[in-house]
Amino acid sequence: MKLIVKKDYEEMSKKAADIMIEEIKGNPNIILGLATGSTPIGMYKRMIKRHKEGEVDFSNVKSFNLDEYVGLKGSNPSSYKYFMNENLFDHINIGKENTYIPDGNAKDLNLYSKEYDNLIKKMGGIDIQVLGIGTNGHIGFNEPAKELAVGTSIVKLTENTMKDNSRFFDNPEEIPNTAITMGMGSILKAKKILLLISGENKKEITKRLLENNKVTTQLPASFLLLHPDVTIIVDEKAYKK
Ligand code: F6R
Repeated sequence: MKLIVKKDYEEMSKKAADIMIEEIKGNPNIILGLATGSTPIGMYKRMIKRHKEGEVDFSNVKSFNLDEYVGLKGSNPSSYKYFMNENLFDHINIGKENTYIPDGNAKDLNLYSKEYDNLIKKMGGIDIQVLGIGTNGHIGFNEPAKELAVGTSIVKLTENTMKDNSRFFDNPEEIPNTAITMGMGSILKAKKILLLISGENKKEITKRLLENNKVTTQLPASFLLLHPDVTIIVDEKAYKK
């Protein structure tokens, strides 16, 4: 596990964008694994800026997102589909047909989940997966539990996560309690993983993750310790003792 500590959110985002852009330049047909939430927004902004400056071309890039709420339409501003269009896809030259986000409105969600993993496999697998971490240690929407799903699946969100994410909803009552998420196996199959952590509210979980040399389903991010190529970029607010 490679740990990079950066002064603040801006520096963390800059380093993350540098890594992503190097990867894309090195492999223009790259398959990206992408995350939503507050943490990667600064990285996406920099990727957009450098695309607009002509430095990076997304025309052959494909992407798979980690997760989506069940039951929200893509046109709903709180959906992750909407988030990705707003924060990245609408501003770069990626083909929308090459951007995959789990469909939380699929008729048969269990069947669809299997198909999502199969599609990732068929495309050749994710080259680099961007992750954030929940204050409870979740990655994707794999919440702390007695057991964790291996493949993409439907999960009930914890109260903690619903509270954390209610800031993205005009009416916090509207936050769905169910989501579709890539499973732990889907995430760990990525060739490289880039975990971004920022802010005071992530201090406790960062400490638990970095001090814990054990894996436990109660801290889903601890499974990243088993992966051979993980880079964590953390800012000082989340890292300071
Ligand atoms: C988002 C995702 C989540 C977030 C995590 C942190 O697609 O899968 O695991 O990465 O909840 O969210 P933020 O960045 O908003 O603190």
